Amino acid sequence: MTVSGAKNAVLPIMAACLLSDEPSIIDNVPHVTDVVTMMEILRRLGAFGALSGDRLTITPGRFQGTVAPYDLVSRMRASICVLGPLLARKGKAQVSMPGGCVIGPRPIDLHLKGLQALGASVAVEHGYLVAEAKQLKGARIHLGGAFGSSVLATGNVLMAATLAPGTTLIEHAACEPEVVDLANFLIQMGARIEGHGGPLIRVEGVSALHGVTYRIIPDRIEAGTLMIAAAIVGGDLVIDGARAEHLGAVIDKLCEANVQVEKLNGSLRVRATQPVRAVDITTLPFPGFPTDLQAQMMALMAVSQGMSVLTEKVYPERFMHISELSRMGASIAREGASAIVRGVARLSGAPVTAPDLRASAALILAGMAADNQTELGGLEHLERGYHDLERKLVSLGVELERISSNT
Ligand code: EPZ
Repeated sequence: MTVSGAKNAVLPIMAACLLSDEPSIIDNVPHVTDVVTMMEILRRLGAFGALSGDRLTITPGRFQGTVAPYDLVSRMRASICVLGPLLARKGKAQVSMPGGCVIGPRPIDLHLKGLQALGASVAVEHGYLVAEAKQLKGARIHLGGAFGSSVLATGNVLMAATLAPGTTLIEHAACEPEVVDLANFLIQMGARIEGHGGPLIRVEGVSALHGVTYRIIPDRIEAGTLMIAAAIVGGDLVIDGARAEHLGAVIDKLCEANVQVEKLNGSLRVRATQPVRAVDITTLPFPGFPTDLQAQMMALMAVSQGMSVLTEKVYPERFMHISELSRMGASIAREGASAIVRGVARLSGAPVTAPDLRASAALILAGMAADNQTELGGLEHLERGYHDLERKLVSLGVELERISSNT
């Protein structure tokens, strides 16, 4: 089965389309509700998006809007990535303050620090972030925070800097493949960027960008979820489109856990013929183990042989799934930013509710390893970021049926 395009790559790239008047065509777009929400944000700004199959055409025209409203930003925090393009194109952006979310506090200080360094003034008025800049200007910016680099702050500064005269140096830039995809998209639009994929990105401002046709990278988090799914049912799965270079830490941990991962041409084969061994995991910015696979890995560790410690170094509060996994018989104790998981011989199927996107996938995986039936509620979270996950999992021999959808 084939991995869909990366949700976390397409969202900032959709926002980046605002950097030109010309239409852009984006291929390999996943059918997930976050993409629909971003299309709605662009529409409210005056740009037009049309999705046909997995091809999305965005026509910004001479869009006039500068406001990303509360009802949309509260639905999807990634809405914040219109901030950089709006400032660069319109000299003004009003984006609803995102606030915290279920995976813990999610500050935006690094976004603001970066844009201020480029010359923007930023104020908070009536729950909105109001940013203004008559003319952005290239600058040297250190974007490291208490939890390391920031994916979307790097994206925002990168997008704004493409049209800012002079040189911008982003130090402690995020190195995630989704940032690289955004940089490649911008370069194709005519931006001058070097160093993306590393911690120091250099941007030479240009006066205008043009529309392009671009293909989104495969979703490494979906690929990782499928790999862990194969491991949890003792299966044998070939995942087309999964890129080993995006999944190094995941492959390493699965191998340590006794799961075989074979790199084929353009795909990965995952085989779990031996009992899964408990391994310790610490989430970190790329190339570390991704926080977006921590919950799924916890489901696997819940049925492994031995005891494992899963430590969150990106979102120390991202443990909402523990209580639901425990309802299925998992033995998990939380100690601050770590979870101590004692593997049990079997989980027992139960009605559970997904608290967030990645937890929804983790609970499906746990249900696959559990006896009897598991009924998952909160499917609207799953639909935000996974395209057709249940159909992809059926090839592992599990029975999955969608009874109803909340969206
Ligand atoms: C992106 O969010 C992803 N979202 C998240 O995916 C992912 O979990 C996260 O990166 C980390 O990999 C999208 O790409 C749309 P960060 P982002 O800024 O960019 C702290 C999923 O399940 N921080 O890289 O918002 C922050 O609190 C989602 O698909 C600051 O301190 O995350 C965290 O501890 C959920 N100040 C760390 O940095 C800031 O201004 C990394 O967050 C910004 C972030």
